[in-house]
Amino acid sequence: MEDLTTLAAVPMPTEKIMPTDISNYESILKDLSIPPRPEALTRIFAEMSQDDPDLNRVGKIVQSDPAMTAGVLQVANSPLLGLNRKVGSISQALSLLGLKNISNIATGVAIRQSLKGGGDGKAFQSFWDAAEKTALISAYLATQLRGIASDVAFTFGLFHDCGVPLLMMRFPRYKATLAKAKTQGSGDFTTIEEDDTGTSHSILGYFLAKSWGLPDELCQGVLLHHDLSAFRDKHTPGGVRNLIGLVHLAEYMQSRVMGNSGDADWIQFEEPIMEHFGLGEEDVANLSDAIAEALHIH
Ligand SMILES: [Fe+2]
Repeated sequence: MEDLTTLAAVPMPTEKIMPTDISNYESILKDLSIPPRPEALTRIFAEMSQDDPDLNRVGKIVQSDPAMTAGVLQVANSPLLGLNRKVGSISQALSLLGLKNISNIATGVAIRQSLKGGGDGKAFQSFWDAAEKTALISAYLATQLRGIASDVAFTFGLFHDCGVPLLMMRFPRYKATLAKAKTQGSGDFTTIEEDDTGTSHSILGYFLAKSWGLPDELCQGVLLHHDLSAFRDKHTPGGVRNLIGLVHLAEYMQSRVMGNSGDADWIQFEEPIMEHFGLGEEDVANLSDAIAEALHIH
């Protein structure tokens, strides 16, 4: 990779809700490089920060990047977004989904493009395919639960594990670590990673999200998404707890609907998440049916 920014330029998370003293990681983080935010995304963020963002200008920026255009159209045509019609152009996607959604979808597409690996493209592709499903299911769930914007849910679904491909790129042995962490579960996910690599995907993901200029709530969610005590802690901002709960619920739904191995943390997170969102078993079954139907899985 070339033209990489270093993690050193990224501010540390706020002390208040830091579960771990990450100053210990500084020496490791110095060795790791994160991809810079793509130019097209920087231009979209600049436009979105205006008082009155220009729809046409955002459309033109997306269209100037063919891979981004293809990615945005692919997501816009997902049955989980429920548009019920074929979206054939960026201007059509903008008018149907709105600026915020398109900007967040473009952010998600950009992270996938930036971390697609080198020689072992297949592992990266299957990682991102699964992450995109999690993102879409998260966006759908956000429409059914209170207090979470579905465009933010989508971005978080895609970004929350972005430290995983970073670790895959940095440590060839990380795939074995990941397999171990997934099967052992029971809240040890990041501990297993730390034992093997000296860092974790939550911490790396936080630095990446921060350096790309994503909202603080989202960055904190990435950092804390495997931290059960932070999820339970009422001092953790509500928006952060919502995102953590949502992504675990989305991963559980995904495994339930697709029949794959799913979320190793679910055993521990299930009860507090159900309580947090006020969900019963019947609600979960109904949500799962709706997702299966949208994805045409019966
Ligand atoms: Fe994770």
